[in-house]
Amino acid sequence: MTTYEKLTRPQRFTDPTTWTAYGSQWHSGEQKTLSCCAVHQETHDVKTFVFQCADFSALSFEPGQFITLSPVIGGQTIARCYTLSSSPTRPFAFSITVKRVPGGVVSNWLHDHLEPGDTLRASGPAGSFTPVGHPATKLLYLSAGSGVTPLMSMTRAACDMAANLDIVFLHSARTPADIIFHDELTRMQADMPGLRVIGICEGLGAASQWRQPIGRLDLPLLSQQVPDYHEREIFTCGPQGYMEAVKALLREAAFDFRHYHQESFDIAVLNEEPLIEQAPSLDQQQMFTVTLSRSGKTFSMPGNQTVLSAAKKAGAIVPSSCSQGICGTCKTALLEGTVDMNHNGGIRQREIDKGLRLLCCSKPTSNLIIDL
Ligand SMILES: Cc1cc2nc3c(=O)[nH]c(=O)nc-3n(C[C@H](O)[C@H](O)[C@H](O)COP(=O)(O)OP(=O)(O)OC[C@H]3O[C@@H](n4cnc5c(N)ncnc54)[C@H](O)[C@@H]3O)c2cc1C
Ligand code: FES
Repeated sequence: MTTYEKLTRPQRFTDPTTWTAYGSQWHSGEQKTLSCCAVHQETHDVKTFVFQCADFSALSFEPGQFITLSPVIGGQTIARCYTLSSSPTRPFAFSITVKRVPGGVVSNWLHDHLEPGDTLRASGPAGSFTPVGHPATKLLYLSAGSGVTPLMSMTRAACDMAANLDIVFLHSARTPADIIFHDELTRMQADMPGLRVIGICEGLGAASQWRQPIGRLDLPLLSQQVPDYHEREIFTCGPQGYMEAVKALLREAAFDFRHYHQESFDIAVLNEEPLIEQAPSLDQQQMFTVTLSRSGKTFSMPGNQTVLSAAKKAGAIVPSSCSQGICGTCKTALLEGTVDMNHNGGIRQREIDKGLRLLCCSKPTSNLIIDL
């Protein structure tokens, strides 16, 4: 039985421009210059950007992982994470698929400015939302909106590998016109006996007909479409509200959450402050002094906030992207003091041992001096 476990990281590649053997790979955490080779309009507000490494390094990643782009916009370098929507079986030309976020800096800049031939800096693949390491053969992919990207990479990988997997891919969208990758998913379903793709649309929009479910994903719909969902490893990605709804219905169905995995694209998740009714009032909270060693700036902050959000409120410029402790963009040396850091894989133990911390998921437990 072929599972994602067969996706071992290849050691040697052929440079497709010269067809000579080539050994260079783009590794996690490493910064490279990427060259945009194509842009495809997927839906009215979603585009795919295809890149290659300017030095023709091969990209070695697991399906579901993301890269962190650092475009320079208005003279400022701004980092944002984007999941690789292409398959790791195609290591030379890889893609991200980006939805315009109203008012969003980077997504709109990419849509409006990035063209084939342009270059930008990015840091290498990271993230633990991947089926590699979960040797399941029955999978359920649940996505909504741009959350389709990691699951598309997983599905493309399975298809390229002719993997003997049983995959149900249930994607929710506003209307049929908003379904990203609709045609390709339909083609893959025809090519891959183990793949079943189901689209759920809230409404028809401009479409005159739609043969698949209309509405929102709920337990009756899930049970009807995927009666054996209890036997499947579930991977979910989408807006926060969607993922909360999925978790609630699976809880109601007493699903075994050891077989549930999710990733959020939502920066609001970690930027959110504790709820007022749950948090002690400000005067009951312990306050700490934070000193930024380079600028000499000092500010006070309560112990229930992240250092990143307090530093930003105090006017410090701190590079950050995911706000979830996964991308590593906000990694900073803690020169004095202690924090309670609750990360999600964005920092290695050896970096922690060297005194580095992720400010987006660190709350102070003493006064701090940080290298900013
Ligand atoms: C692991 C990971 C993978 C991701 N993968 C993808 C992917 O495959 N595809 C994809 O499309 N996205 C993905 N994202 C999301 C992506 O990283 C960006 O968050 C997204 O593109 C929005 O970035 P932006 O710069 O356009 O918006 P931002 O400028 O960060 O703004 C985001 C929102 O906040 C609002 N906002 C900004 N500043 C303020 C302010 N001062 N006050 C109030 N509101 C404000 C904006 O109006 C907007 O609604 C991923 C995120 C993560 C963490
Ligand atoms: S911003 Fe991504 S780890 Fe902190």
